[in-house]
Amino acid sequence: MPAADTQEIAIRAATPADAPAIGRIHVESWRETYRGLLSGNLLNSVSAVVRAAMWRGALEHERPIVLFVAQQASGDLVGFAGGGSSRAPSLPHDAEVYAIYVLRAAQRRGCGRRLMAALANALHTRGFRSLSLWVLEENAGARGFYERLGGTVVGEKTEVDGGHEFREVAYGWDNLQSLCSAASIPTSATDGEARGVS
Ligand SMILES: CC(C)(COP(=O)(O)OP(=O)(O)OC[C@H]1O[C@@H](n2cnc3c(N)ncnc32)[C@H](O)[C@@H]1OP(=O)(O)O)[C@@H](O)C(=O)NCCC(=O)NCCS
Repeated sequence: MPAADTQEIAIRAATPADAPAIGRIHVESWRETYRGLLSGNLLNSVSAVVRAAMWRGALEHERPIVLFVAQQASGDLVGFAGGGSSRAPSLPHDAEVYAIYVLRAAQRRGCGRRLMAALANALHTRGFRSLSLWVLEENAGARGFYERLGGTVVGEKTEVDGGHEFREVAYGWDNLQSLCSAASIPTSATDGEARGVS
């Protein structure tokens, strides 16, 4: 999918109708990102249909979540970011980024930063005060992105999936407002509020 100029990409709140496209992006970006880092079996085990059902369920209040998408003028989605209450009892932060994925063809054009700004602002508006997220230790690109936004390493752990061990590190922002400021850039007229939040 050809990526449009950043100015033609709008950041908006996701709706349940976006779930199939979000599922496809989740799987495509996951494979682009982790090829060479994870086993082929694991890369092939993820399904866009399963991911779509997961995000649709989250949007339909299975779990409180804020979810934004990046949409080209053509209507195609090129990225998404979701978050909500922290699922990490070992960390003191009250909010968590559950996922942020931008298709490779649309990366390094400010989409990730704008998605993060929308997410951080929506979480702050809902009363959250701090934020963390987990990332594969070897995912140098994403780590560079989080560090550029002021995140610092606040934890590490080993996960096991499909018989494989993975090292993960956590990035944290003690003050969510500092992330809002770091991620903020002039927003397009269509940058909007998140929905699907209980
Ligand atoms: C990480 C990700 C969301 C960043 O989105 P993006 O749209 O490419 O990022 P932006 O263009 O907004 O980048 C903002 C700044 O972050 C930093 N940055 C972004 N990608 C980087 C990279 N690969 N390496 C180092 N720094 C990076 C840069 O300082 C960049 O500013 P610049 O382009 O002016 O130098 C995106 O690359 C992605 O989806 N990666 C694959 C999936 C993934 O790893 N998700 C995270 C899982 S935990």
